[in-house]
Amino acid sequence: MVNIYSPCLNINKDGHLAISGCDTITLAKQYGTPLYVMSEDEVRRVCKSYVDSFGKYYHGNGRPIYASKAFSCKEMYRIVTSEGLDVEVVSGGELYTALQAGVPGENIHFQGNNKTVQELEFAIDSNVSDIVVDNFAELELLGKLAREKDKTVRVSLRIKPGIDAHTHEFIRTGQVDSKFGLDLASGEALQAVNRAIKLDGVKLIGLHCHIGSQIMEKEPFVHAAEVMLELHYRIYKEFGVELEQLNLGGGFGIHYLETDDFIPYHEYMEAVSAKIGEKCVEYGINQPKIYIEPGRSIVGEAGITLYTVGNIKEIPNVRSYVSIDGGMFDNPRYALYQSDYTCLIANKAAQPVDYVATIAGKCCESGDLIQEHTHIQKPDTGDILAVLSTGAYNYSMASNYNRNPRPACVMVKQGESRVIIKGETYEDLVRNDL
Ligand code: LLP
Repeated sequence: MVNIYSPCLNINKDGHLAISGCDTITLAKQYGTPLYVMSEDEVRRVCKSYVDSFGKYYHGNGRPIYASKAFSCKEMYRIVTSEGLDVEVVSGGELYTALQAGVPGENIHFQGNNKTVQELEFAIDSNVSDIVVDNFAELELLGKLAREKDKTVRVSLRIKPGIDAHTHEFIRTGQVDSKFGLDLASGEALQAVNRAIKLDGVKLIGLHCHIGSQIMEKEPFVHAAEVMLELHYRIYKEFGVELEQLNLGGGFGIHYLETDDFIPYHEYMEAVSAKIGEKCVEYGINQPKIYIEPGRSIVGEAGITLYTVGNIKEIPNVRSYVSIDGGMFDNPRYALYQSDYTCLIANKAAQPVDYVATIAGKCCESGDLIQEHTHIQKPDTGDILAVLSTGAYNYSMASNYNRNPRPACVMVKQGESRVIIKGETYEDLVRNDL
């Protein structure tokens, strides 16, 4: 039997995979496949655990921000903000979606390494909480745009703290070669601080860093907090400016496989807050408002994707391809990163996993695979295949490759289901064709 690791999943009395009390086979019949399914219960549970940790470890002096690039749609913005989170957006499109969902500008943080003039103007006009500035050119441009609009824009600076958390043994001097942010080691970051403080049209309110994604250990986060707080203190000492906020980014790991071993979120929070508290006492400064910016860990395990099994090609002594009615157009992560996933036959969830399959998508591309050599129940054409932990960076990275319509997304909550994103139709595909 496959191990169902997410708290919102179980195997029901019919031996089917269930999510938040909804039978996945019933969902597949009702809404069709491919189908994204998200558990509202699980999203809210994770949001609450982050909010509780902020209460406990920062006494409310800070808050979590949902990095909406992981999964952006109106209903997600409504859910996370109703739990007390702010949202991070990285494009005019995400900003527009958040505003359409009713998120006030003051709860939106605008990021991006190459924002367009149009996006910057949109963010200024929307009175966002802050714009996270990536580079000198953007700083100057923002100052100019703000002055033209007779406004003062709150900015924070994206810093490369020199921590490469993508390697198992994190390397302190790495990450200079990154397209994101201002380099700390070379002095670029302090130069930008100096400029931002003097520049009319902008008010420097904070610092930001993000050291990577799907990080399993807590040490890189603690180290980043230490480095960033030191910079915060240097700015106070050298410029006499006490910045309001420090955003330490996202990147907390989740399960893709049952064996994935990561630190529980509250342990990161405890360790990082202890380091921040200790450093503030040592420097004799007030603690800035702390933000973190998780995306994957809020929605990742809350989502699954359901597919119908089509043809099965057993190539003797080679491998068995199990084809599904989706693929890289709804989930490009295996094609891009060879990411791990747990797959199972949802209508046979209680049966032994004694079949080794390569799950193949329907796109005209050999690399269009969802997983290779994965253990599942013996499949038959017409079975429903579930892929777990697809809540983050699946819908948000989906495409119309081969003119496949993007699937619908259904939200489930305590045994009830509702569509939150309609599936695209063929008509949608030609809507903008002239
Ligand atoms: N903040 C910033 C500035 C970021 O660049 C990111 C992710 C986050 C927060 C959220 O990180 P998270 O908590 O989700 O790890 N497409 C890739 C992931 C790219 C992440 C990019 N930045 C994937 O599918 O794994």
